[in-house]
Amino acid sequence: MNSNLEITRAAEILRSGGLVAFPTETVYGLGANAFDERAVARVFEVKGRPRFDPLIVHIADAHWVARLAAGFPAQAQKLAERFWPGPLTIVLPKTAAVPDLVTAGCPTVALRIPAHPLAQSLLRAVDLPIAAPSANAFGRISPTSAAHVREQMGDAIDLVIDGGSCHIGIESTVVQVVDDRVTILRQGGTTLEEIEALVGIVTIAAPFEGVEGSAGRAAPGMLTRHYAPRTPLIVWTRDAARAGEGLSPTGASRGLLAFREGADRGPFARVEVLSPKGDLREAAANFFSALRRLDAAGLELIVAELLPESGLGRAINDRLRRAAHS
Ligand code: TXA
Ligand code: MG
Repeated sequence: MNSNLEITRAAEILRSGGLVAFPTETVYGLGANAFDERAVARVFEVKGRPRFDPLIVHIADAHWVARLAAGFPAQAQKLAERFWPGPLTIVLPKTAAVPDLVTAGCPTVALRIPAHPLAQSLLRAVDLPIAAPSANAFGRISPTSAAHVREQMGDAIDLVIDGGSCHIGIESTVVQVVDDRVTILRQGGTTLEEIEALVGIVTIAAPFEGVEGSAGRAAPGMLTRHYAPRTPLIVWTRDAARAGEGLSPTGASRGLLAFREGADRGPFARVEVLSPKGDLREAAANFFSALRRLDAAGLELIVAELLPESGLGRAINDRLRRAAHS
């Protein structure tokens, strides 16, 4: 379909309470009109997402902030000016215009301006904020192509806009500013280094806090069980992998998720290399689809190599550790 027509149709679907999956530069989102509680309720239903896990509200530009957020601290504005549009989500105190269902009862709302041209066109055409989680079933691997969305969501949504592969490939970084201190609630497409270069030292919310199901926690979405393939997964360092540590000799149905070329493929039935030359951006862009392929290969175990703990490597490692703890 002509993409202008498709965007027009998608905007009509959203305005009449339907659900539209759309590409962003990070992952595909499953969108609903953020002001329409019935539509937002359907997002929770089709994702199987618990009602205590709030959604990100996507906006076309910063003029929406005044309508949706009751405050915009200086540090948050600085981050917005530098990283919007892009893979950064900023948690701000919410106004009454944002339905409680969207924020799962939290007094805050998570806002993001996506950079993807189709997401931008859709937001402009609909002229509403779009509440959208990643377009995967709750707790499963995030979709980085329209085919991934269709596989998991099937007929439950009204339209999938196909924008090809997402070029960043991991979700946005979620930050919150309280008393001028910046906390990263979820690592993602905007790196710690980039954020610290702008605002100084930031805090990273502890990844394995016992937040599951508990109300009033700082980072409601920080469940340990997240991003999980169905196949059990363990994380490994390359040195341990080289030594064959912990692997029984009969590793016939094990798969390796390797960062770059050069890992010992010997004991593995299947190997996915995220970036042959060891580039973190390329690794991020390939991460979720490589994990999906391994998950679909009928393996007993996925052994995932940890990446260098810098830049996008941190965000990928965070997802691997969560998958391993699920
Ligand atoms: O890149 C992305 O962020 C993608 C695309 C579609 O924009 N969206 C995405 O949404 O990853 P989702 O729902 O899978 O993850 C949203 C994260 C969750 O960890 C959620 O708990 C957190 O953002 N979040 C949302 N609202 C929040 C709030 N008010 N306070 C704290 N965390 C919030
Ligand atoms: Mg998600």
